[in-house]
Amino acid sequence: MSPCWEARADLVVVGTGVAGLTAALRAQSLGLRVLVVTKASAGDGNTRWAQGGVAVVLPGEHDEGDTVERHVADTLVAGAGLCDADAVREIVFGGPDAVTRLRELGAVFDSGADGRLARTREGGHSAFRVVHAGGDATGAEVERALLGAARDGRIPVLENHVAVQALKTPSGAVAGLHVLDGAGVPGVLTAAAVLLATGGLGQLYQATSNPEVATGDGLALALRAGAPVADVEFVQFHPTVLYTGQGARGRCPLVTEAVRGEGAVLVDATGARVMAGVHPLADLAPRDVVAAAITRHMALERGGIDDHVFLDATHLDAATFRTRFPTVYAACVAAGVDPVVQPIPVAPAAHFACGGVVSDVDGRTPLVGLYAAGEVASTGLHGANRLASNSLLEGLVVGARAAEAVAADLAVGRLADPRAAVVGDLPVAPVAERDSLQRVMSRYAAIGREAEGLAVVGSVLDVSAVDRVLDSRTAVEDAALTLASRALIASAAQRRESRGCHVRTDFPDRDDAWRRSQWVRLTPSGQPVLGGVTVLRGVA
Ligand code: SIN
Repeated sequence: MSPCWEARADLVVVGTGVAGLTAALRAQSLGLRVLVVTKASAGDGNTRWAQGGVAVVLPGEHDEGDTVERHVADTLVAGAGLCDADAVREIVFGGPDAVTRLRELGAVFDSGADGRLARTREGGHSAFRVVHAGGDATGAEVERALLGAARDGRIPVLENHVAVQALKTPSGAVAGLHVLDGAGVPGVLTAAAVLLATGGLGQLYQATSNPEVATGDGLALALRAGAPVADVEFVQFHPTVLYTGQGARGRCPLVTEAVRGEGAVLVDATGARVMAGVHPLADLAPRDVVAAAITRHMALERGGIDDHVFLDATHLDAATFRTRFPTVYAACVAAGVDPVVQPIPVAPAAHFACGGVVSDVDGRTPLVGLYAAGEVASTGLHGANRLASNSLLEGLVVGARAAEAVAADLAVGRLADPRAAVVGDLPVAPVAERDSLQRVMSRYAAIGREAEGLAVVGSVLDVSAVDRVLDSRTAVEDAALTLASRALIASAAQRRESRGCHVRTDFPDRDDAWRRSQWVRLTPSGQPVLGGVTVLRGVA
């Protein structure tokens, strides 16, 4: 079907999470005509589910001896040798200003008794430097403030429109998007620049902390447009998602790492400590270490009889727990658990894509006109495992920088004239059945992978995928999940080592011959292939 309508802007932002809205607000303040598009409602992204907070070392509001340099160092350690050290410095050093701007927009963070910002600690942090809001509702407050500012600024937000494919000019620059409304009616948004801020891909797995919208759409759209993606084998599993019984599906409530920051410990059904002797930081080890230790403990120490462990926070009194962790408390109570008197049943679940669309700290991808920011991007900040609460930070910093990059690129004539965008037919792409895909990904491509299992995923995708026209939101999402899982298993099969979130049972050790990122591109026939370019990321 040919497009029924067309709208034009300087910048189209896809996604209404922290990175997208921050970019839109900054772009507007720089005088750009900006349009935001989202496949759901404006507040439905991943950001509002973030609990822990924003990791940042603010002047005059930090632990004694804590510095931005130490935050950088913790990020590099968590990233297990794959971070881009320059990117880490740029983004982490941008944190204090970004948080200040966010507060100026109206975001309210929690204060301590001394009137200064309250700070907590999470896995991998050597200091209390995570600022939070509403106790454990930081993402909701960030989203509230950004959406409010966007509404006040009358930034147009096109809801319930899914981005299907990038429009390109004859010279290969991205110059807009093909979108579909909820009824499948196609439209065209032409723009000199498109910023992907579509979030992650937790829906690749049966159980995830991510909402239903996290289907890898931006990753797939970028690949099809000709952009490379990197580090996609590194999917972070959050160690403590509320366990609600066997066969949990879809978004499961998070139990923020900050509960461990306030002294809770992981125990098994016998009361034995899970993290004893595993890592010097014990329960506050980096997230990949804790999630893998839980998985190992259930399989080895408990002989596979357990599919969850417990988070014991009973040292906190009722008033403290309820005020500090209202979201977790409500989720526990809804599941019939009183966290004040009994340990909380928890299990690891898919949480965060550490890799994504190759982009620099200004959101620029190798494709002219295409930018990426937030979880969909691979800036080199996270390496093989993201440090806790660095994601809202990245969205704030890179979101603003991406808008500035677009303005600068427009000013020097680096971007294409959107009137040259070629509007073709809706694309056709392989679509696998979602339930089978999630089952095999959870079984063979979660924590603990090996060559044979990854090959099984490939075979199941081969057998179940059928080519179809991407003419609905469901088709777009399922095609994105199919392509993202193909890219992930290709990268995971190739990386014959264990590092960060990528745990290979057949290659259990870290091998520094693999201290490099793997890039994936699409062949002209639509197959994800590794290489072309592999980069050794600057590491500290
Ligand atoms: C958490 O609160 O444990 C999650 C925060 C994050 O993903 O960084």
